[in-house]
Amino acid sequence: MASASCLMLLVAVAMAMASAASGQLSSTFYDTSCPKALDTIKTAVTAAVSSEARMGASLLRLHFHDCFVDGCDASVLLADTGSFVGEQTAAPNAGSIRGLNVIDNIKTQVEAVCKQTVSCADILAVAARDSVVTLGGPSWTVLLGRRDSTTASKTNAENDLPPPTFDLKNLTDNFANKQLSVTDMVALSGGHTIGQSQCLNFRDRIYNETNIDAAFAASLKSNCPRSTSSGNTSLAPLDVATPTAFDNKYFVNLQANKGLLHSDQVLFNGGGTDNTVRNFASNPAAFSAAFVTAMVNMGNIAPKTGSQGQIRLSCSKVNS
Ligand code: HEM
Ligand SMILES: *[C@@H]1O[C@H](CO)[C@@H](O)[C@H](O)[C@H]1NC(C)=O
Ligand SMILES: *[C@@H]1O[C@H](CO)[C@@H](O)[C@H](O)[C@H]1NC(C)=O
Ligand SMILES: *[C@@H]1O[C@H](CO)[C@@H](O)[C@H](O)[C@H]1NC(C)=O
Repeated sequence: MASASCLMLLVAVAMAMASAASGQLSSTFYDTSCPKALDTIKTAVTAAVSSEARMGASLLRLHFHDCFVDGCDASVLLADTGSFVGEQTAAPNAGSIRGLNVIDNIKTQVEAVCKQTVSCADILAVAARDSVVTLGGPSWTVLLGRRDSTTASKTNAENDLPPPTFDLKNLTDNFANKQLSVTDMVALSGGHTIGQSQCLNFRDRIYNETNIDAAFAASLKSNCPRSTSSGNTSLAPLDVATPTAFDNKYFVNLQANKGLLHSDQVLFNGGGTDNTVRNFASNPAAFSAAFVTAMVNMGNIAPKTGSQGQIRLSCSKVNS
């Protein structure tokens, strides 16, 4: 009898722990503490993306670069200071991440309606969703309640964010390290249906690779010279077909060998993800559903909750 109730207590404790671990975030987290939070973010994101479509891409990528480095905790937003080195100078971020001012501006507006209540990590997650919606993509319910880090790691940013030189196996392993499936990886790569890349990141592909459409490569070469001394920063759209529409054309491009990055084209190059690419290319609803699932999964990476971390007053620095 004693051991039976002891077992029941253990089961109850285990169930409570499991629900705390999986259900920490909640769609209703700010419903009473800051009912205007989501509308405030949406209005600001819509305005920013309306004035520059690429900003939607930049905000989506910021959430990705946040979540893959020590979880979705806004660590990517912490600016370097004389005595602090954050993630913004890490190779995948330096000269590349955009939208920091937009996030700072949203945070100012959110602080004006609810003082020190809404985290920067949650603002990033909601801004990513609102960006996708503004550019014509699917919507989803964002889970909330993340708290902000008091630290950042340049080393982890360099080690955990995937470079465009990765092959399929490297990408699969990199996402698996974040508990994301191969399907999640392919769907999330579909984020490259919007936004742009600098020449440096696709030069080797357009000059050296053979699984690339010849006319597509030729058209890119005019603005991305072979010599690195001629410059690295000229831009090309990641989705040559519909550069600012969040649609499934990224996957259609891959079937035509028109992926811009090496890491894009490896998803359709005779390997195990070809069928997923075919499915997403022929079935927009299948892509939308997989993307939404994968964004929620990515947004669940190692959130700080409860008394962990802090709610920053300013997204670019820890509270003093
Ligand atoms: C699968 C591994 C990935 C690799 C290797 C990769 C790599 C890159 C690279 C090299 C760029 C261009 C950066 C520049 O030239 O400044 C880029 C841009 C971008 N990435 Fe990824 N990425 C990956 C996954 C993702 C994911 C998961 C998302 C979001 C769901 C995403 C969203 C974007 C967006 C929207 C842009 C354009 C940003 C802008 O125009 O400002 N990427 N990515
Ligand atoms: C990909 O992973 C392999 C090991 O599986 C490694 O040898 C290779 O250097 C990695 N590629 C890149 C670009 O890091
Ligand atoms: C292409 O490959 C050659 C030799 O494999 C290498 O020297 C060169 O740096 C690569 N990239 C470009 C843009 O030519
Ligand atoms: C372009 O990038 C390469 C490789 O990172 C670097 O060696 C070169 O100096 C860069 N060129 C310019 C003009 O910055």
